[in-house]
Amino acid sequence: MTRKQLIAGNWKMNGSLAANQQLLDEVLAGMQTAAPRCDVAVCVPAPYLAQVQAYQDRSRDASGRARLDLGAQDVSMHEAGAYTGEVSANMLRDFGVRYAIAGHSERRQYQGETDVHVALKVKRALAAGITPIVCVGETLREREEGMTEFIVKRQLSAVIHLNGHCISEIVVAYEPVWAIGTGKTATPAEAQAVHAVLRAQLKAATEHGERIPILYGGSMNAANAAELLAQPDIDGGLIGGASLKAPDFLKIIASAA
Ligand code: G3H
Repeated sequence: MTRKQLIAGNWKMNGSLAANQQLLDEVLAGMQTAAPRCDVAVCVPAPYLAQVQAYQDRSRDASGRARLDLGAQDVSMHEAGAYTGEVSANMLRDFGVRYAIAGHSERRQYQGETDVHVALKVKRALAAGITPIVCVGETLREREEGMTEFIVKRQLSAVIHLNGHCISEIVVAYEPVWAIGTGKTATPAEAQAVHAVLRAQLKAATEHGERIPILYGGSMNAANAAELLAQPDIDGGLIGGASLKAPDFLKIIASAA
């Protein structure tokens, strides 16, 4: 089955009003010169959602579609109320957010997010009409202990368990923790092997499992993107560092189908 690929930048905690403007200008200019075959999104820090939303409105294509979809880097597992600092799915929706990352390993590691938290975040996002990008991935130690398959299946199964047939609306991102921001990338064969495991799990959970996009993330860059994106179960990328440099991000976009 052919799945349209998605290239999503994750700016993490980087940017400023001025730097974002310059990056968006450069990315949009490049996308106008060479129209992407894939979908493109940027997942930005919450304070900049309004900036990027306004930018989207000024740069729609002839059919009125935004050239860049907007994503958030997190979403609250709560609906509303006394949760200081949290941002709800409905608030994100107000800013035209289409995607929300759920369970990025940096949040699992630094904010103590568990599989259950992630499953709840996915539920909130889906209820608000936002597509969650569900991150799964093993640490270096887990890989060395031969636990990769067990870990990613456990992480995804929590999401499946709580969300049932609604998981046909999610995006999954396989992000080996040891490859994030380290310059070490999984080889295309290593990544494909894990993607195949996730694909089988999705197919066992829903009849739509074949069409759920599975992105790869972890030091994807202009040099290695084409080979990774050519793998049968790799349907795009979740790009950190390279999404902050317009020429690199544009090369990755051009590698996608
Ligand atoms: O969300 C993106 C991933 O954490 C990958 O980050 O491309 O900087 O390794 P990276």
